[in-house]
Amino acid sequence: MSRVEIFPCSEFSLKISEIAPDKSISHRSAMFSMLACGTSEITNFLRAEDTLNTLEIVKNLGAKVEDDGVTIKISSDGIQESSEILDCGNSGTGMRLFCGLLSSAKGHFVLTGDTYLRRRPMKRVTAPLRDIGAKLDGRNDGDLAPLSIRGASLKAFHYESKIASAQVKSAMILAALRADGICTYTEPELSRDHTERMLGGMGADIKVEGLKTTIAPMNGLLSPLKIRVPADPSSAFFFAVAAAITPHAEIILEGVTLNVTRIEAFKALERMGADISYEITDNKYEPIGNIRVKHAPLHAITVEENISWLIDELPALSIAFACAEGVSVVKNAEELRVKESDRISTVVNGLVACGIEVEEMHDGYSVKGGVLQSALVDSHGDHRIAMSFIIAGLRCGMQVTDIDCINTSFPNFFELLSKITKIEVK
Ligand code: S3P
Repeated sequence: MSRVEIFPCSEFSLKISEIAPDKSISHRSAMFSMLACGTSEITNFLRAEDTLNTLEIVKNLGAKVEDDGVTIKISSDGIQESSEILDCGNSGTGMRLFCGLLSSAKGHFVLTGDTYLRRRPMKRVTAPLRDIGAKLDGRNDGDLAPLSIRGASLKAFHYESKIASAQVKSAMILAALRADGICTYTEPELSRDHTERMLGGMGADIKVEGLKTTIAPMNGLLSPLKIRVPADPSSAFFFAVAAAITPHAEIILEGVTLNVTRIEAFKALERMGADISYEITDNKYEPIGNIRVKHAPLHAITVEENISWLIDELPALSIAFACAEGVSVVKNAEELRVKESDRISTVVNGLVACGIEVEEMHDGYSVKGGVLQSALVDSHGDHRIAMSFIIAGLRCGMQVTDIDCINTSFPNFFELLSKITKIEVK
C-alpha cells in the first residue's frame, strides 16, 4: 500500500496533451466491438487497470484482440461461454454493463471484482434485468457480486428509472438490443450518453427524445467501431482544479471530450470565478477539444442540479470549495455514497483533517472556504479521493496513503503532476 508526499507548488503555465483517455468510452469501445460484424479499431484506449480488465473479459468471451501498442483491433464471432471467472476489478461500469450484455448471451457467466466492488449495489441493474426475464443472481438476492448470469430470452420493456445512472441506462440498452420488441428507457435527469452515441454511430436503432430513449432490437450485427478515445474530462479536472487554486497558474488540457454531460464540473468551477474557455477541434461521436483554465479568486457556489453530470468530479471540486470565499453546498448527491468509496464521508473526513469546516448531510455536504493545512489523508482505496487530496497538497503539502488505486483510471497522473511540483512516493 503506497503513500505519497506532495510539496506545495508555485505558479505554472502548462499545456497537457497526455491526460488519460476516457474511461467510460474505453470500456464501451471494447464491449461494443463484440456486437459488430468485422473488426473494430480503437486508438488511445485507456491502458489502466479498470479498462484493461474489461479488455481481458472481452478476450475471455471469445473475441480476437490484436494490440500493437497503438491500435487495438477487436473482432468477435459472438459471445462465447468462458471457463474463467470474469474479473471486473474495481469497475462498477464494467460489472453493470456486462450484466446487460451477457443477460441475453448463450451460456453461463460469473462476474466478480475486488473487495470494494463486491460491496457496491448491483440490484439497480439485476432487478430490472430480472424483470424482463434475465437469469441473474448474487449474494443478498442479486445485489452483491460475485454475480452469476445464465443467458436467457429477454422481453421488451418500458422502464422508468428512479436514478440518473449511465451504467443502469447502458445495461438496459444493451439488453434491449436483444429483447423481443421495441423498448423504452426513461431517466429522471439525463445521464452521460456515450452508449447512445456510440451504438447509434455503429448503426443501432436508438432514438433519444429528452429523457426517453427508444431502442429497437438489433437486426443483424452492427458496423465496427473506428474510434480514437478522447481524453477523460474527469481526469483532466484534477489539473483544472490545480490551476484554479494556484495564484497566476494557467493550464491547457488538450483533446478532451466536451460532451455536455461530462463537463459540468468545469462549468461549476467557472461559476466559482475561474477563467475557463473551450475550443472544439473535432467531432466524432461527440465534440472533442481543448479546455483552458486560468486562476482567479474563487467564491462559493451551490451545486444541486444535473448532479450526474459532475458526480465523479465532486471530490476534486470540493478542494476548490475549500480554497473559495464563503460556504459551498452540494445537495441531491446521495449517489456519492455508493461510488468507489462513500464519497460524502471520505471527502468530509479528508477536508476536516485538512482543517476545513465541513458539515455532512445525507445527500451532500457544505464546505466553508478557509486555509488548507497539510495532513495525512487516507484514500480508502478510491482513486478520485486520492487524486483530489494530492491536488489539495499543491497549496499546503500533503501525505496521501493507499494510492495504488490511481492506476485504475490515471496511470500517468504522477508523471504529469511532476511537471508542477515535487512528489515523493514512499
Ligand atoms: C459511468 C457512469 C457513472 C460514473 C462512473 C462511470 C459510466 O456512474 O459515476 O464513474 O461509464 O457509465 P453511475 O451510472 O452509477 O452514475
